[in-house]
Amino acid sequence: MSASVETIILDANKFKNIQLCADVLKCGGLVAFPTETVYGLGANALDESAVSQIFTTKGRQEDNPLIVHVATPDEVDSLVVSVPEVFWTLVKAFWPGALTLVMKKTSIIPKNVTAGLDTIAVRMPEHPAALALIREFGFPVAAPSANPSGKPSPTKAIHVKSDLNGKIPYILDGGDCRVGVESTVLDISGKTPRILRPGGVTYSDIKSILGDMEIDTASSINDISKPMSPGMKYRHYAPKAPITAVIGAPDKTAKYISDHMYNSDGKDNKTVALMFDDYALPHPNIITFGKSDDYKAQAVRLFDALRKFDDMDIKSIYAQVPEEEGLGFTVANRIKKAAGESVVKVNY
Ligand code: TXA
Ligand code: MG
Repeated sequence: MSASVETIILDANKFKNIQLCADVLKCGGLVAFPTETVYGLGANALDESAVSQIFTTKGRQEDNPLIVHVATPDEVDSLVVSVPEVFWTLVKAFWPGALTLVMKKTSIIPKNVTAGLDTIAVRMPEHPAALALIREFGFPVAAPSANPSGKPSPTKAIHVKSDLNGKIPYILDGGDCRVGVESTVLDISGKTPRILRPGGVTYSDIKSILGDMEIDTASSINDISKPMSPGMKYRHYAPKAPITAVIGAPDKTAKYISDHMYNSDGKDNKTVALMFDDYALPHPNIITFGKSDDYKAQAVRLFDALRKFDDMDIKSIYAQVPEEEGLGFTVANRIKKAAGESVVKVNY
């Protein structure tokens, strides 16, 4: 579409708006829609040229495959060579929801969807507007997060509007995302299920269902330099100013940040921090994102908080990193990815 046309935000609770967006998909166009994790930028997953627009609109690297969204588990049948037994076990426990499953793909999927891989990532989202859109459209929907590559994912319709205004016709507004971080990507194409990207469904959630079946959390999940999912190798989720991830007990990381904020920049202080509610410094340049042990709140608020820094005239950001347990593992992963190499471990 022409770059000068304003993108319209539509109320996802009105069925005629779902129909309008389904029509755009039918014509080979793109629409942004809510899911419970983050907003997605959708296209017909079976239409190579529609999918290629996703890559240009986001500025996404072509070697980074997309997640295909379905409205029922049965739709996966035509997309994968065979459905492993563990698929149904996981679907029963987590679908619809924040779990993406990677399996061997069939040839009906265009190459650009999977970036040439022989596997496909599929997910049935929980958000009613996402399900209604896919159902009304009638085919699977390929959708990455609806942000330009590298930026924090959108968790509100206005985030998408500020990122993609003029580049897509419509954004379906289904409210703020309930989970706030992307889905967990789990590879079940081999003998042993393997988490490729931590997300809204936690390692222990999956472990409790698969029992003593081994999940390869591979020490490598902690090693952010080693990509498991193609998308994990890029710097991601990043505000414009450089961010330093500060790891350690919250009282220690708060002290570290305090020492650095009050001693830098003098009067025109351009150093800011992302801190837990219960450790936030009494300083004007602090944005909070939940209590130190409330990982759910941190997940919901993280990307919105990171985006707020882009509206501030600042030089650098410090961020407290939560304990790597439960959903805290995912929140920590996103902050460390945003920080790139700039990670400090505090243990004084
Ligand atoms: O919650 C989510 O997953 C959101 C919503 C919109 O569903 N989507 C999302 O998509 O986060 P995206 O494109 O931002 O991230 C997809 C991730 C990337 O890390 C990509 O490399 C990985 O999934 N992925 C996709 N297909 C894959 C495959 N066949 N094998 C391994 N990883 C794959
Ligand atoms: Mg993304």
